[in-house]
Amino acid sequence: MKINSLSPIGILDSGIGGLLIAKEIKMQMPNENFIYFGDTINMPYGEKSQKFIIENSIKIISFLYKKKCKAIVIACNSITSNALDVIEKKFYKKILIFNVIDPIIKNKIFFSSKKIGIIATPATIRSNFYIKKIKKYYHHLNIIQSSTSSLAPMIEKGLKIKKNIIKNYFNHFQSIDTLLLACTHYLFLKKEIDNFYHGKVHLIDIQKIVVKEIKKKLYKKKLLCVTNKKNKKYPIFYTSNFIPTFFEKKVKIIFGEKVFIKTHIFNFF
Ligand code: DGL
Repeated sequence: MKINSLSPIGILDSGIGGLLIAKEIKMQMPNENFIYFGDTINMPYGEKSQKFIIENSIKIISFLYKKKCKAIVIACNSITSNALDVIEKKFYKKILIFNVIDPIIKNKIFFSSKKIGIIATPATIRSNFYIKKIKKYYHHLNIIQSSTSSLAPMIEKGLKIKKNIIKNYFNHFQSIDTLLLACTHYLFLKKEIDNFYHGKVHLIDIQKIVVKEIKKKLYKKKLLCVTNKKNKKYPIFYTSNFIPTFFEKKVKIIFGEKVFIKTHIFNFF
């Protein structure tokens, strides 16, 4: 398949979580085009089996691959932790695959931490992906992890997350020095969580670290788009059912009105 630096980047998540990764891509690489896929009909992925996550994410990546994307960004921790190995094998040498976990694990930030908290969906925690990787590189770290089943769906629906909900989920992480928001949906709550800890716990800047890594690799592979002359296109957002109101609202708040929002319904079963 013919791709070059002008080809779009494909980004996927179960819903709005990956939008902040897409926003950071636009900030750090303003000439890039992207096609975003939110599998809104199957959200929350955090509640699904590994088999389900593997099968559905492969369908979405194949869809983005057929749209001639030059790279795929798995902007979802639940997909990365449950399906990355299978995805990498399946698309090996076909397309560059990025994810939101590896660049974080390899970041120097963990060297200066002593006790870190990881908060993620049940599917991510069940996979033990973070623990296995972190333990491999950082023997000194004390890690506490916890899952939340309803937080991502609440964020996806645009419900107001009150202080007592934050307290309920984050209270038991009190003695940590670093917190990893290991679900891209939670990144929308960064300010509220930072306020809860009165700025005393370091919240890792996931988007910046992940996108910096993507940019570096695209540059190395000569796939970074350095001109905006021939590449002025509007981003496309797909959802897998009707277009949810809050998804559309969030897209327009972040990326403005000049976007295409469409549906693509898969025959999943
Ligand atoms: N945003 C996703 C993640 O990073 C998943 C949220 C969900 O669908 O449960 O894990």
